[in-house]
Amino acid sequence: MRKIILAFVMAVLPGLGFAAGGNVHLEEVDIDLNNKQSLQRGAKLFVNYCLSCHSAQYMRYNRMGRDLGLTDDQVKENLMFAGDKVGETMKIAMPSEKAETWFGTAPPDLSVIARAKGKDYLYTYLTGFYLDDSRATGVNNVALQNAAMPHVMWDLEGLKAPIYKTVVGPEGEEHQVIDDYKYMTKGKMSPAEFDAAMRDLTAYMVYMGEPIQQTRKTIGIWVLLFLFVLFVVSYYLKKEYWKDVH
Ligand code: HEC
Repeated sequence: MRKIILAFVMAVLPGLGFAAGGNVHLEEVDIDLNNKQSLQRGAKLFVNYCLSCHSAQYMRYNRMGRDLGLTDDQVKENLMFAGDKVGETMKIAMPSEKAETWFGTAPPDLSVIARAKGKDYLYTYLTGFYLDDSRATGVNNVALQNAAMPHVMWDLEGLKAPIYKTVVGPEGEEHQVIDDYKYMTKGKMSPAEFDAAMRDLTAYMVYMGEPIQQTRKTIGIWVLLFLFVLFVVSYYLKKEYWKDVH
């Protein structure tokens, strides 16, 4: 019976993987949640480029400040819009019904998007906007075909057009896949700088999805140390107690 279940799981698993990822190739990205500078740069991009459409209603400004090593004043000066208070959560600048009529799809809340989609997906999505005349926004996205989101960071990245190549499938059918890009306009950043910035932004979104995780890891290490010390003490105590019994 167990074998049958195992065989079933083995047969279904690859299919599940496929369903989750589609046939999109995701870029792998390395992020470092201990790098506070990287998280701060990511937070800055996030408030400047994303909060106008997306909210992050589980993230409070002062919590973020503490975790990222910033004082309340630094947060106020650099990361907040005038009028918000540091104890508030990251609200959207635009009412979501309006956003829905403008884009056809309401921009989702981004508090826990990293947990839902994974870091590689986010990075691929953020670096994956390319020119496409058939779209109302003028761009399409490699990770999310026909995404309703415009390329909001085009001023940083510049606009790139896809270069296609033809691949032949297992049944001999031909289809076009994006092989490379050609930049049609220059951005304020070089492609390498933009990729690094998107790594920071991805790191920030992963942090935001689970702000407690770094703290939890630190607590975990202390717990292990405590258990180790307790073990040593108990060992010698046991020796002491049993010494007269033999
Ligand atoms: C001009 C409004 C606007 C801005 C600004 C904006 N977005 Fe979006 N975003 C959207 C819309 C609309 C969608 C819904 C796309 C869809 O489902 O087709 C979306 C969807 C998303 C998604 C979900 C993609 C998916 O797979 O479902 C992510 C992640 C995202 N945005 C990240 C960001 C980040 C990060 C920024 C800041 C750099 C940002 N967005 C700025 C409008 C915006």
